[in-house]
Amino acid sequence: MLPVSPSTPIVTLGEGSTPLLRSERLSAGLGLELWLKLEGTNPTGSFKDRGMAVAVAKAVEGGARAIVCASTGNTAASAAAYAARAGIAAVVVHAAGGPASSKLAQVRVTGARLIEVGGTFDDAFAAAEEIAEREGAVVVNSTNPDRIEGQKTAAIEIVEELGGPPDMLALPYGGGGNTTAYAKGFLEAGFEPRLVPVEAADRAGTTASAIRIPTPVHRAEVEEALARCGGAVVSVTDDEIAAAWSSLAREEGVFCEPASAAAVAGLAAVGDIAGSRVVCVLTGHGLKDPEALDRLLEAGS
Ligand code: F0G
Repeated sequence: MLPVSPSTPIVTLGEGSTPLLRSERLSAGLGLELWLKLEGTNPTGSFKDRGMAVAVAKAVEGGARAIVCASTGNTAASAAAYAARAGIAAVVVHAAGGPASSKLAQVRVTGARLIEVGGTFDDAFAAAEEIAEREGAVVVNSTNPDRIEGQKTAAIEIVEELGGPPDMLALPYGGGGNTTAYAKGFLEAGFEPRLVPVEAADRAGTTASAIRIPTPVHRAEVEEALARCGGAVVSVTDDEIAAAWSSLAREEGVFCEPASAAAVAGLAAVGDIAGSRVVCVLTGHGLKDPEALDRLLEAGS
């Protein structure tokens, strides 16, 4: 199911096969059967590793000596680690003040080149594309189809673990690459679960820095996925994200990063789900964003 052949090098840090956890207390509170896909347990602490393993392997197979990405932090951490593993260079572009500190630490420790630009993620993305053009580096943002291919394995895993598809999948919606990948994985496995991509109401200013993306590059593909599978985009406020983030830790012992909690926060806005089997994708680990703690504990209490 992946675009690989015997001549494709294997570049792995042990990504995938993440836990799918039944959420007892939140299920009871919401009146449904809730499962949490813990993507923060991937090697660099986020879901990005699945797609990065494939994208970096394909880049190396194609003869690349360097990769480049724009990032709110997690793509950067993943790209830097997989480039190091493959023995190639990585360049990471980010908006000033964008990524949480732990994510920058993950990049810096590998020796990857960090470039800070003024403006938003959209400006960082434009700069990354320019660098790729100028330096002949492969872009490993989710606009690289190999990222989507690797990422779709998460959907297939969920089907295997549950013994069938969920009724609904909710996940945070930044650029929309992850939503696109889940839809592709489910459709290739022959299923069309309802999809609920959850975005920050204030896309450009949310405190959930991982999804602080003004313009989703995959918007058209997300709309297409919703047309196929059903479902709708939901918007949540930072206070709703904080409350969900806090509940996950207090009621289930699961510490995820703020953006990940958007998936759970979005459920309140979805009608017609009583009793259904719902999977929320918790995309990144709580240790990614330690600065969020004081801010969110205050907002969520
Ligand atoms: N959750 C986390 C923890 C993320 O880091 C991201 C995106 C998303 C959700 C949204 O996923 O963009 O595929 O819709 N992070 C990217 C990055 C933008 O640079 O790390 P999406």
